Amino acid sequence: MSPADPAAAFGVYVHWPFCLSKCPYCDFNSHVRHAPIDEERFTRAFAREIETTAVRSRGRTVSSIFLGGGTPSLMRPQTVGAILDAIGKHWSVADDVEVTLEANPTSVEATRFRGYRAAGVNRVSLGVQALDDSSLKALGRLHTAREAQDAVAIARSVFDRYSFDLIYARPDQTPAMWAGELQRAISEAAEHLSLYQLTIEAGTPFFDLHAAGKLKTPDEAIARDLYDVTQDVCARYGLPAYEISNHARPGAECRHNLVYWRGQEYAGIGPGAHGRLDIDGVRHAIATEKRPEAWLMRVEAIGNGMVADDLLNSEERADEFLLMGLRLREGIDPRRYAALSGRSLDPRRIAILRDEGAIMISTDGRLRVTQDGFPVLDAVVADLAA
Ligand SMILES: C[S@@+](CC[C@H](N)C(=O)[O-])C[C@H]1O[C@@H](n2cnc3c(N)ncnc32)[C@H](O)[C@@H]1O
Ligand code: SF4
Repeated sequence: MSPADPAAAFGVYVHWPFCLSKCPYCDFNSHVRHAPIDEERFTRAFAREIETTAVRSRGRTVSSIFLGGGTPSLMRPQTVGAILDAIGKHWSVADDVEVTLEANPTSVEATRFRGYRAAGVNRVSLGVQALDDSSLKALGRLHTAREAQDAVAIARSVFDRYSFDLIYARPDQTPAMWAGELQRAISEAAEHLSLYQLTIEAGTPFFDLHAAGKLKTPDEAIARDLYDVTQDVCARYGLPAYEISNHARPGAECRHNLVYWRGQEYAGIGPGAHGRLDIDGVRHAIATEKRPEAWLMRVEAIGNGMVADDLLNSEERADEFLLMGLRLREGIDPRRYAALSGRSLDPRRIAILRDEGAIMISTDGRLRVTQDGFPVLDAVVADLAA
């Protein structure tokens, strides 16, 4: 993976905000509805917001599309097809565009995979989360380990590219248990795995249980061991980390997520989606209404669901570049930071962090976080940005 020309890629993120049930750890913009969703009405609204957003970003060629959620695999294939058609109608789309759809691994959803492929999806990302039923139950998941394995097998037979997610640092998980689970996962994975450390998010049922002492997550030392196991096992089996939580065979990185981490431009479509567009040389941070039905009505009334359109000043732009770019193994080019912010990173702070073993400067001059630095990434970024 070679660090790309910042102007070369353009992503489109589309958010489907509905799930069959709310997982107790999740704070994403996902909602459960007990009445059927009017997919046709949502499709028209997606197409409308795509049209108005494309007007603000004319001339771009879409290099990646990501249908995320929520649970996009609850959408009918024709809904996905209509969204992709709208993107193709209003932007030009690269011949080798990467089109990813996030799917939950239930048997019902896996039956739609062929329909998604026919609609234009060429990569799926499955939320497997754990490989045993008791962990899945503890995470409040609706699928079994068997179903998840079957969904992975179907993904493998339908798509050239697929990935799946696991959550680690779960209650009572030891490094030895995780090493075993990871090896099984790698034997099922083709080219890409996302491995997220369980985060206890404020406002979720897990947060309340954790605060009440009823949910014990691994302490800092065990969490660090679990992180090291993740790096070592994945690297040994040819799936090194290219981002703090993402592992891929070289060349198989998720191109869409690289757009975010490299600070490139992307449009956000759908309820609660975020976008970053450069308009007249100024970066805009755009967000849409989070509540699905309020977003729908807003789009129907005025053509888009936008509730924030903030112009980032050079300091904010540079901080975001640092925050996102240092997540990547390839790191950042300090000259680009200086060009964005108008000032160089402080050489004394760089020297201190380097002496502590948290960062390194590679031979091409790029600044990278080390394996010791990644577990304390937030502190490293805060230190550099100060
Ligand atoms: C927003 S979810 C969408 C995917 C899909 N709905 C699913 O759950 O399978 C994307 C991924 O974020 C991860 N995730 C969500 N909440 C998390 C948390 N609190 N800690 C760690 N990972 C989390 C899960 O691995 C999940 O697959
Ligand atoms: S299915 Fe995915 S998006 Fe929906 S609540 Fe669970 S983790 Fe969140």
